[in-house]
Amino acid sequence: MRLNRRDWLRSATVATAAGLFVRPEQTILNTSSISKQEPGKVLLNSNENALGPSEMVRKAIAQSVTESNRYPWETRQILVDRISKLEGIPADNIMLGAGSTELLQLAGMAFGAYGGTIVSSYPTFPMMMQHASGFDAKWLKVSLTSTMDHDLNGLKDAASGAQLVYISNPNNPVGTMTGKKDLLDFCKSMATDTIIFVDEAYMEFSDPGLEASLAHHVMDLPNLIVARTFSKIYGMAGLRVGYAYAHPNLLEKMKHYHIGFEINMPITSLYAAIAAAEDQDFVKYCKEENRQIRLDVYQKFDAWEVKYLASQTNFIYFETKRFAEKLVSLLEKHQVLIRDYDDQPGYARVSMGTSPQIQQFLDAAKLYISR
Ligand SMILES: Cc1ncc(COP(=O)(O)O)c(C=O)c1O
Repeated sequence: MRLNRRDWLRSATVATAAGLFVRPEQTILNTSSISKQEPGKVLLNSNENALGPSEMVRKAIAQSVTESNRYPWETRQILVDRISKLEGIPADNIMLGAGSTELLQLAGMAFGAYGGTIVSSYPTFPMMMQHASGFDAKWLKVSLTSTMDHDLNGLKDAASGAQLVYISNPNNPVGTMTGKKDLLDFCKSMATDTIIFVDEAYMEFSDPGLEASLAHHVMDLPNLIVARTFSKIYGMAGLRVGYAYAHPNLLEKMKHYHIGFEINMPITSLYAAIAAAEDQDFVKYCKEENRQIRLDVYQKFDAWEVKYLASQTNFIYFETKRFAEKLVSLLEKHQVLIRDYDDQPGYARVSMGTSPQIQQFLDAAKLYISR
């Protein structure tokens, strides 16, 4: 049935009178009911960056809204080109993912799943191996050294006959980092048909920063994949943007397990990442703030005789034995969230937040120091 303008106006008036049209102000979301960031709650359990996202990113997100009705193909390419320019690595060697998690998943599927073996240090960030294990990958774990560093010799031994080696560098959850030369020598010494996936999610926070990255070596090592993310130093964890560097042949194999058509990333997140890549001042600022806040925590831990590992990241791994039992649950009562692990009793990990947040953590933790 076609309505003419008068019919439409009449039906609209009736509908309005009957309350059938929702007024625009009623459609505005009440974010207080869905926000993770309740007032007073201190989120130090997921290694996010409390300082982000930057002003430039916030503006870019607002600008992207008008394009939300379009598929983001061209925008993807713009981000790839910006990353390429920023780091001097050809665009063909770059692949985007919905967070680096997606790239971990794709690599696990392409090189580890269906009867393959993945070798990693332990403890480490387990996402790739846990996922691939569900698709018949075997996970070989190599304990960290006594200094909680990657045991490169142990990894190399375990990797003989394996398809994939996963190395988180710096390593989550312990925060230690293997130097560039040692890791590069390790990569060069591996069989060329063993893929090495170096996850550099926290590299920008490390003292050497991206100087210690292996990214440029994907151009001379055909079995190397290096992953990074906008989730950590750029403070964009909720926007889900990650990227991997590798030889195009490896990226092609990973894409095989991808939904295809490259539509996995929202245009808003792409705009945000394009702006973030341009805002290197914000990266410097976050690195410096993080370094300072880490020092504040070290100082308190030293005074309390709490043992911890010097960190190259935005989190600190520490021994909990100087505190009352179940420290993590006790802190939760003070609205302070940190993390521990069932398989690592006696240790916890605290992410760096803003100065006031860290103060809240320290004030609450102090209440539970054993006398
Ligand atoms: C070592 C490491 N890699 C990757 C990720 C996943 O990051 P995202 O998917 O947000 O890029 C994390 C998240 O905590 C991590 O710690």
